[in-house]
Amino acid sequence: MSRQSGILVQNAQQVVLVCNNGEKYLTRKAMQDLAVLHDASLVIGRNGLIEAVGTVDAIQSQYQDTVFDRVIDASGMCVLPGLVDAHTHPVWVGDRVHEFAMKLAGASYMEIHNAGGGIHFTVEHTRKASEEELFECLKKRLQRMIRAGSTLVECKSGYGLNLETETKMLRVIDRARRELDIDISSTYCGGHSIPKGKTVEETVHDITNTQLPKLKQLMLNGEVHIDNIDVFCEKGVFDLESTSTILQAGKEMGLHINFHGDELHPMKAGELGAKLKALAISHLEEVSDDGINDMAIAKSSAVLLPTTAYILRLKSPRARDMLEAGVIVALGSDFNPNAYCFSMPMIMHMACVNMKMSMSEALAAATINAAYSLGRSQTHGSLEVGKRGDLIIINSPRWEHLIYQFGAHQELIQCVIVRGKVA
Ligand code: NIG
Ligand code: FE
Repeated sequence: MSRQSGILVQNAQQVVLVCNNGEKYLTRKAMQDLAVLHDASLVIGRNGLIEAVGTVDAIQSQYQDTVFDRVIDASGMCVLPGLVDAHTHPVWVGDRVHEFAMKLAGASYMEIHNAGGGIHFTVEHTRKASEEELFECLKKRLQRMIRAGSTLVECKSGYGLNLETETKMLRVIDRARRELDIDISSTYCGGHSIPKGKTVEETVHDITNTQLPKLKQLMLNGEVHIDNIDVFCEKGVFDLESTSTILQAGKEMGLHINFHGDELHPMKAGELGAKLKALAISHLEEVSDDGINDMAIAKSSAVLLPTTAYILRLKSPRARDMLEAGVIVALGSDFNPNAYCFSMPMIMHMACVNMKMSMSEALAAATINAAYSLGRSQTHGSLEVGKRGDLIIINSPRWEHLIYQFGAHQELIQCVIVRGKVA
């Protein structure tokens, strides 16, 4: 009697495991020395989990009596874990290509924001959009992310800034989580900006006394699922104290703290995040030395977003200083109407060139560490037995080509598998 199993990916030139000892994250030294098998095969069981990975010969003898639902020949190709995008804003309508033109002509992000554009522009359009319209936009964007190799994506709300539209966005994300072949970590970002005509105090009060209690009720009823809480901690948006109030209220609801900080001005967001035991702090272009050290000790990951500095012509985050200090560095696309980038391969390339990361460091940051930043590294982020069968196959005999050939992921990525299903 022959056994049956799901998918056999065989004869790969390289299988990049990333790590193979159940590590929850990697810091600098380990990021430079990733686990890679040569001439290897991998099996994903019918339950969507990785069942075995090893040399071609070892897998062949282990599975000689097995009939697979599907066999993929990866001769001359490389297998990598599905990429994890640790920071996106993918639910909105109304693009901001006109603002891109303004920025190219010299306007700053905050000048546009303070003049009523930026996030305010997107909020205005998103409030008017139907749930169906928002879902269709999100679906198309997630499909583009999958084609670029992402299999777990963090998705934020934050273009509603009131209970009605924030809830609408979270329901749309929840529907995508249930219906689409991609894993999602859902973030409530009601503190993305101060709504027009409101003060900071009124906004903090609305979030902590109206929005969060209502969302808690919806979560208990199973009507919406939320993993993380986010705030835009920035000069002229939420100061340190109001950020802390909102984040703590979210933490009391059981949400992971994962917020925007130290982007345009030094705010001591790194220090605050470490104190609150944040799982992740994003941006950090202006983080202080103390903030870096505190984050390393607290194991609050740094989610670095190379598109922001690139688009806004800011200085890049100090990835090297963070890595040297032992911070857990992760990467995200920051996909949003300001930074219209779906591609984690492109992000890794930018992290290497503009933030001086090595290709191995960038891949660890876009897999196991990005999974850690979302509290998912026990199930995602590496090709280890028992983890999710999420992987990509690239048509190149060396995995580094995924980063080296910038803007080429469409030709390079042959196949994306999510939970054991070819996407
Ligand atoms: O991470 N900085 C705040 N939030 C987003 C931008 C959102 C927007 O401009 O619509 C960011 O870059
Ligand atoms: Fe963001």
